Amino acid sequence: MSHVLPVGSTIGILGGGQLGRMTAMAARRLGYRTVVLDPDPAGPGAQVADRHIAGRLDDAGAMRALADIADVVTYEFENVDADAVAALESLVPVHPSSAVLRVSQHRIREKTTVVGLGAPVPPFRAASSTDELEDALSALPFPLVMKTATGGYDGKGQAVVRDREGAFSAFHRLKAGTDTLIVERQVDLAMEISVICARDVNGNVALYPPAENRHRRGILDVSTAPAPVCARVAGRAAAIAETLAQGLQLVGVLAVEMFVDRDGEVLVNELAPRPHNSGHHTIEAAAVSQFEQLVRILAGLPLGDTRIARPAAMANLLGDLWGPEGAPPDFARMLAVPGVRLHLYGKEQPRPGRKMGHLTVVADTVDEAIARVLRARGDREDGGPHEISLH
Ligand SMILES: Nc1ncnc2c1ncn2[C@@H]1O[C@H](COP(=O)(O)OP(=O)(O)O)[C@@H](O)[C@H]1O
Ligand SMILES: [Mg+2]
Repeated sequence: MSHVLPVGSTIGILGGGQLGRMTAMAARRLGYRTVVLDPDPAGPGAQVADRHIAGRLDDAGAMRALADIADVVTYEFENVDADAVAALESLVPVHPSSAVLRVSQHRIREKTTVVGLGAPVPPFRAASSTDELEDALSALPFPLVMKTATGGYDGKGQAVVRDREGAFSAFHRLKAGTDTLIVERQVDLAMEISVICARDVNGNVALYPPAENRHRRGILDVSTAPAPVCARVAGRAAAIAETLAQGLQLVGVLAVEMFVDRDGEVLVNELAPRPHNSGHHTIEAAAVSQFEQLVRILAGLPLGDTRIARPAAMANLLGDLWGPEGAPPDFARMLAVPGVRLHLYGKEQPRPGRKMGHLTVVADTVDEAIARVLRARGDREDGGPHEISLH
């Protein structure tokens, strides 16, 4: 039996980005108060939280101040200092645990853990020296993907290499500022999918159907649900996500990014122990969104229905869509497309590649939802990439 957090209790959120913002909005709807710890008092999360504590995400003092106010704490960002989160755990319940956070913070630890729990990953090696890189190159065929073990996101800190020379030059370039690289076989992708998994303190699990994720320049561009995969692949993805959530003793929401290769094999790419960009459609398409699901878990409330009532497509709005002087795109024109929902994160500075908001459409079919969300965003009619202006 879990203890239900009384209405009016306070949920603490480490990190003040859009994921914290949408979590705080879900918390408010259920009658909870929120406090966000983030350096920026005007950031997306702080704007909607009841309270804001200004501090860095490795600031143990600021975390203690958060613990004084919050009845339970979560994080919306992986690069929170895990030692500080571990210290926080002795003061207030933190979900997911600092142990899960640590796994997700280091790509080699992450893949080793996933393999240990019996789920498949692309063949990989760790390389923290040129000798280890040599070993990796003799074990794995080109092309390879090399990534920094820590700190990478949105395709940053990565290189695809096709030969020895490329591998050594990427090694020296990427290794500046980090301890270890992961060298992975580049998977011949049929599709990228993700499963968002929720697990409560009693070990109950709820899974959202797999979403299909399309990236551009390493950043999630469009996500659709349900992913157009056969029942076997969907079942495999769900089984993997559930195995990981149980094996990690997750309490909270976990996004499992996966590759489906040309043979229909499902491989785990990475884990995010928090709501995920590829689950934003659950706000409109599922009875209970990934954000509400997290709040329910933090509050000891029952898990909600994860079924997708209607097919959905989500398109990110990156800063590239803003004009040279920061002029916003024409939101009225976007909203004139039937069924479009607009989510803006309240970020003042648009920058190329920066996630400023997203659009979601639910429709009778996935294809219809994609067509409308791309039309709303202003993508070219032929479905090709819209022009990215650099300013
Ligand atoms: N081993 C791989 N094989 C094929 N594509 C890959 C591989 N690793 C990464 N990618 C591509 O790069 C994207 C970003 O890599 P990922 O490991 O998810 O890092 P990030 O933390 O930046 O999201 C993936 O979504 C995928 O498109
Ligand atoms: Mg990723």
